[in-house]
Amino acid sequence: MASLAEKVPKVKLNNGHEMPVLGLGTWKSKPGEVTQAVKDAIDAGYRHFDCAFVYQNEAEVGQALTEKMASGDVKREELFITSKLWNTFHSPESVEPALKKSLSLLGLDYLDLYLIHWPISFIDKEGELFPKDDNDKSLYKSVDHVDTWHAMEKCVEQGLVRSIGLSNFNSKQIQHVLDNCKIKPVVNQVECHPYLNQKRLIDFCKERDIHITAYSPLGSPDRPWAKPEDPSLLADPKIKAIADNYKKSTAQLLIRYQVERGVIVIPKSVTKTRIEQNFDIFDFQIGESDMQYIDSLDCNGRFCHVTWNNDSPDFPFSIEF
Ligand code: A2P
Repeated sequence: MASLAEKVPKVKLNNGHEMPVLGLGTWKSKPGEVTQAVKDAIDAGYRHFDCAFVYQNEAEVGQALTEKMASGDVKREELFITSKLWNTFHSPESVEPALKKSLSLLGLDYLDLYLIHWPISFIDKEGELFPKDDNDKSLYKSVDHVDTWHAMEKCVEQGLVRSIGLSNFNSKQIQHVLDNCKIKPVVNQVECHPYLNQKRLIDFCKERDIHITAYSPLGSPDRPWAKPEDPSLLADPKIKAIADNYKKSTAQLLIRYQVERGVIVIPKSVTKTRIEQNFDIFDFQIGESDMQYIDSLDCNGRFCHVTWNNDSPDFPFSIEF
């Protein structure tokens, strides 16, 4: 099975570690579906899995990893496993226990990458993931991202994780961490697709040797807050027409688009045929003019706008990038 996995190029992170450009997303993958999906993905050649504590399915992802390692289909050192620190664990003393909790759910003794999931901090209220007051308002707390970051750095020093990074941070928030860190973030994971191509944030990060990972590369049609009238990236006739020219599906074109612009990409699927299809993107190249045309579809079209948290002082999407 090694030859399939070898089709996936790796990027070199700013600390020398390598990360496969294609991974399987697990946000929204139901616990009852994700174990089989991860096993199917390993059989298809995926070695990079994007997880998070808040997805509430890390134990089931871990079950697949444990079984596939036990059967000898894959070795730990061939895998690249990401998890994310949830918003209720930003206090420095909560970081290591949160990471260790994800490790235990995943059945691993180290992570390849641990990200601060959001720049928004919630209070820790009886273990609730989304603590709210009686009026249904989120309960925030103030934690300097640098304090959380220093606790992340300690986890690297202890060998619990190889690389650390950010997610959903805007340019100012990234710069604040960079100005005060010992260990640089290796990636910032953000929503990214043709309607929100993140060109300026990508350029900003590139100048600072930080990679971008694209979440919701297919527009996350299964996002819980989707409305029938919302635009659909996968059904966009302009994108479909280009995909048709390459005899590829719209999903394949959207994934290939990111790989060609040097962005790491983590499409989610729990469907075996789609998991395989989404991997089958290394036998074609999108021409320069098509790439430019896809870029021109940018319309600040954010699907994961989390406007319900825009009253947080750390809300990341109120500046341009
Ligand atoms: P499913 O998981 O039921 O297969 P994103 O990665 O942007 O969050 O998008 C994930 C969504 O896109 C899921 O609903 C997933 O469905 C669907 N999806 C994944 N791959 C494909 C594909 N190749 N064709 C159509 N839909 C896909």
